[in-house]
Amino acid sequence: MAEIKSKMVKNKDFLTLKDYSAHEIMHIIGLASKLKKDRNLYKELLKGKNIAMLFDKHSTRTRLSFEAGISQLGGNCIYLSSENLQMKRGETIEDSARMFGRYLDGLVIRTFAQKTVEAFAEHSGITVINGLTDTYHPCQALSDLFTIYDAGLLEKKLKFTYLGDCNNVSNSLMIGFAKLGLDITIGCSSKYEPAREILEYISGISQESGSRIILKYDPAEAVSGADIVYTDVWVSMGDAHSDEKIAELSKFQINEKLLAYASPDVKVMHCLPAHREMEITSEVLDGKHSIVWDQAENRLHAQKALLVFLYSG
Ligand code: CP
Ligand code: NVA
Repeated sequence: MAEIKSKMVKNKDFLTLKDYSAHEIMHIIGLASKLKKDRNLYKELLKGKNIAMLFDKHSTRTRLSFEAGISQLGGNCIYLSSENLQMKRGETIEDSARMFGRYLDGLVIRTFAQKTVEAFAEHSGITVINGLTDTYHPCQALSDLFTIYDAGLLEKKLKFTYLGDCNNVSNSLMIGFAKLGLDITIGCSSKYEPAREILEYISGISQESGSRIILKYDPAEAVSGADIVYTDVWVSMGDAHSDEKIAELSKFQINEKLLAYASPDVKVMHCLPAHREMEITSEVLDGKHSIVWDQAENRLHAQKALLVFLYSG
């Protein structure tokens, strides 16, 4: 684990894990652990608070875990579909954000551009949480770090392999791992590598945290000896379907044959929703190595922990 150097300075928003220190991430993971053991903790924390959820893309887990989590913490959740807002008719993000700030105590946004969540944070003056953009999915990565911790595997010697498409989920996982000083292996096609700016950002902080990103173009090499193998869809929301990309990534499918290269006790993770028989077979998803349902449950505990971190004190 990374040595904790930075003092904990509370952030108002949660837009990307870049803004969070190892200390803060571990603190939130600790809170998630407590909340998983006792769902009644902090049950009045958000009493009298209204938090809206503005979603431009589909969601099951993020929406439900925040709605249930806000309710369990005593708050009121207002779900908004951008279809029905005046923004759809041209009201600017800045003007909308100013209004949101007058009515609400917080906003969870799922949208396309990262700059949209940044603009909401800047102009609303209230706490803004990124519920997924094209670039990042920090709530997922935070929750996944908690799942790895909860499984007793969050330690320096962990071999964690992410396989397949380099996307918002892998970007946030890479940042989270780098923040905690842990290595991450990315098994991907040379045509669909992690974005250069993410690699550059991580190489900047890795010098301090001591973590490495190991890129492997051979799936068996990427998975060899892995304690955890993780994948996500090959076509993310908002991406154009591409037969060429799917063919290129097909050798990174998590199936029993590929999993045989991993540790005998390997755990398999997927942020879900899964495209069965594409990036992962049903045999693996429903098999003995899969922890995807615990992983999905942990979104609830991790989202509550994030809210406790942002709203307490
Ligand atoms: N993993 C995840 O964010 O799931 P949803 O798209 O269902 O919210
Ligand atoms: N990469 C996926 C994650 C879904 C939770 C997407 O953006 O569609």
